[in-house]
Amino acid sequence: MRTSKMFGANGANMSSVPEHRLNRLAAIVEFSEDAIIGKDIDGIITEWNQGARQLYGYAADEVIGKPVSLLIPPDVADDFPQIMQKIRRGESIVHYETVRKTKDGVRVEVSVSVSPIRDEVGKIVGAAAIARDITERKRQSRKLIEAQEQERARIARELHDDISQRLALFAVEMEQLKDLPSNEIPIRLEKMRITIMEILSDVQALSHELHSSYLEYLGIVPAMKNFCQEFAKRQKVEVEFGTLNVPPSISSDISLCLFRVLQETLHNAAKHSGVNRFRVQLRGTSDEIHLTVSDSGAGFDPEAAVKSHGLGLTSMKERLHLVKGEISIDSRPEHGTTIHAHVPLRPDSGSKLAAS
Ligand SMILES: Nc1ncnc2c1ncn2[C@@H]1O[C@H](COP(=O)(O)OP(=O)(O)OP(=O)(O)O)[C@@H](O)[C@H]1O
Ligand SMILES: [Mg+2]
Repeated sequence: MRTSKMFGANGANMSSVPEHRLNRLAAIVEFSEDAIIGKDIDGIITEWNQGARQLYGYAADEVIGKPVSLLIPPDVADDFPQIMQKIRRGESIVHYETVRKTKDGVRVEVSVSVSPIRDEVGKIVGAAAIARDITERKRQSRKLIEAQEQERARIARELHDDISQRLALFAVEMEQLKDLPSNEIPIRLEKMRITIMEILSDVQALSHELHSSYLEYLGIVPAMKNFCQEFAKRQKVEVEFGTLNVPPSISSDISLCLFRVLQETLHNAAKHSGVNRFRVQLRGTSDEIHLTVSDSGAGFDPEAAVKSHGLGLTSMKERLHLVKGEISIDSRPEHGTTIHAHVPLRPDSGSKLAAS
């Protein structure tokens, strides 16, 4: 049996590895979705798999023999000398996040791991780099941070513009009490009691929006029902809430996800539809849970909306994606809007991997 004289990334002697295994390993490398690049000690590209072609756009024969620095954008600090210094010391670099440049000049954010390649006497002769495109992940996490900041700004606005203004007014009314004739004081006090109860109820509603203890202790149906009631009262709209065959126990991540989808869709309906009656339905089937929120208002073009600056639709999609759920929007200008979110109840039933 023929064997190859070859040493692994950490100096492991691979000469005893039978050729058929080496062929399999080579195929794994070649067809890996990750970009796998071999380079010599001067950074000249020696190997280039299909993942690298996919990620950077170059075919192997366009880059083999060329310096790996051709992947570094001109405005990004050349980190290559430091990487090679570590490699020469026999060290590896794990999940280093940086920016690279494709053949078309497009910037890609990548996570790179690099390890030394040794020859048969253990001398470091090059490096193997594995890179993964993290552009989308980075974009999503930036959007998520932006969404969090917007949410904080909204709460701050509500606390400042609404609650604190009303409390300040309340303080003025208290101040005026001492100048009132004594027979008017009981009436004024009753008015003030009503005001403070209203403020209290709005603070409670705000805090329930942030964290629903109903959701935690009583489950999705009471939490959604309570939210719809508070929302209706607060926004001065009507919300009809109905349920059908909702299974008794739904995991907390699915419940929280659908609860957030309900909040965003109702906020959107109140903000954008122009009408003040909304219908919400939570419905269970044998393997899925469905949430539908509809209005008969202004409607919109979903494709254009996704490209808008709003974060609501995007963050709903992302949240649903995490629990393998999906959202569909049925809306046309002037024809109302129905938002339908559905999530598989068994963790594996919606998995694209399982389906393929
Ligand atoms: N029920 C609805 N009726 C009419 N238009 C809607 C409705 N829901 C969403 N839209 C449209 O879709 C757009 C995108 O919604 P999205 O929730 O992503 O952003 P937003 O509500 O404008 O901002 P944000 O949610 O970040 O505060 C809205 O700007 C609006 O034009
Ligand atoms: Mg919105």
